[in-house]
Formats: sequence, C-alpha cells, structure tokens
Amino acid sequence: MTGHYIALEGIEGTGKSTIAVRLAEYLEKRGIDVLRVREPGGTVTGERIRHVLLDPGGSVAPWSEALLFSAARAQLAHELVGPALESGSWVVSDRSVYSSLAYQGGGRGLGVAAVRAVNEPGLGKVWPEMVILLRLDAATGLARQENADRIGGEGVEFQAAVATAFDELATGEPDRFVVVDATDDVETVWRAVIERVEDRWAISSQA
Ligand code: TYD
Repeated sequence: MTGHYIALEGIEGTGKSTIAVRLAEYLEKRGIDVLRVREPGGTVTGERIRHVLLDPGGSVAPWSEALLFSAARAQLAHELVGPALESGSWVVSDRSVYSSLAYQGGGRGLGVAAVRAVNEPGLGKVWPEMVILLRLDAATGLARQENADRIGGEGVEFQAAVATAFDELATGEPDRFVVVDATDDVETVWRAVIERVEDRWAISSQA
C-alpha cells in the first residue's frame, strides 16, 4: 500500500461532508491523486445496500444492519479503495468502518469487538490510517441535521451513545485518531483539521 487513507467521522451534524470535500480539494491542488468516497455507498452494489439501510420506511434488525454496512464497505474496499491505495492515491472518506463500530457497536449495543470482527475479513489491510473525529454533543448535532434518514432519525439518546463510543474509540487508538472540536464555525474546524494533516505528512501549506 502506498497511498494514505483518511476518514472523517462523527455523529450527525458535525460538518464532516464539507470538510471531506475541502480536504480532497486541498490535496488535489498539491498534485496528489485523491479518491473521495462516502459510506455507505460508492459502488453500484453499495448504493443499493445504502437504500435498504437508510430508507426511513424500512425495517432492519440490528445485526442485519451491521452486516449490510459491512457488506457495502467490503464492496467499496474491493472495487475502489483498495485499488486506489495500491496505485498510490490518497483516499478521503466520509465515514468508514469506525462508524459501524460507533453506531452498531455502541449505539445499537452490538459490541465494538463483535462489529469489528465481522468487518475485518472484508477489508483486510484496507483500514483508515487517520480518522478525523469531528466532536459535537448529541443535542447540537441533531439540531443542525437537515434531513434525517432511518438511522439519523433515532433520538438524542442514541446519538449520545454513538458520541460516547466514538470518544472511547479515539482514546483506545490515539495514534490513529485526530480529535477536533466541531462546535466552532467551519473555518475554525477546517484550520484545525488541516494543521493536523500537514503535521502528519509534511504537506506544504503553500500553493
Ligand atoms: P449519510 O446520509 O451518509 O449521513 P451523514 O451525513 O450523517 O454521514 O447517512 C449515513 C447514516 O448511516 C448516518 O446516520 C450514520 C449511519 N451509519 C451507520 O450507522 N453505520 C455505518 O457503518 C455507517 C457508514 C453509517
């Protein structure tokens, strides 16, 4: 593997997607090949699974949910993320396996270790090298959310459990996680993110 895999993570309403777009553009401007993806989705199979998972009218049991997210992710790793990293591209992902660990492992109460175990076989080495956790309290996140899907529409207690799980994951893997306070405006959040990325890979802030 020669590329670098960066995932943006957090609960609803943290501004992850905006930061992911900016980060990809920032790297591209510096001549780096970037693949930007979002989870669940990114492949034909993955987008079909996304529909099953997020349709507000759907009924999906907790383990079915965990396995479907894992299936969509395995497809993305096989078709896009793995080959991109092999070819030296960087990958900027809006969510990753860490969302499953926090939402299904923590939020749904399936257990982080069990959810990790079902994800690992489909991913192999295709695992985020840096996870940027945009941290926000659950009530603020829900207030900022524009359109709730089936999972985003869960209540504040669920979001709080997910937020706690993200915090625990960050504490458990301090070398992988970069934790940024997302309460501030997007410019402040962006500056904090890019500082940490530049520190890690010595990318010039010029250009
Ligand atoms: P999405 O439309 O991508 O929303 P967001 O802007 O919040 O990223 O919806 C993804 C939803 O699915 C979101 O509520 C988080 C949830 N999710 C999981 O529960 N587990 C996962 O593994 C992933 C990738 C997402």
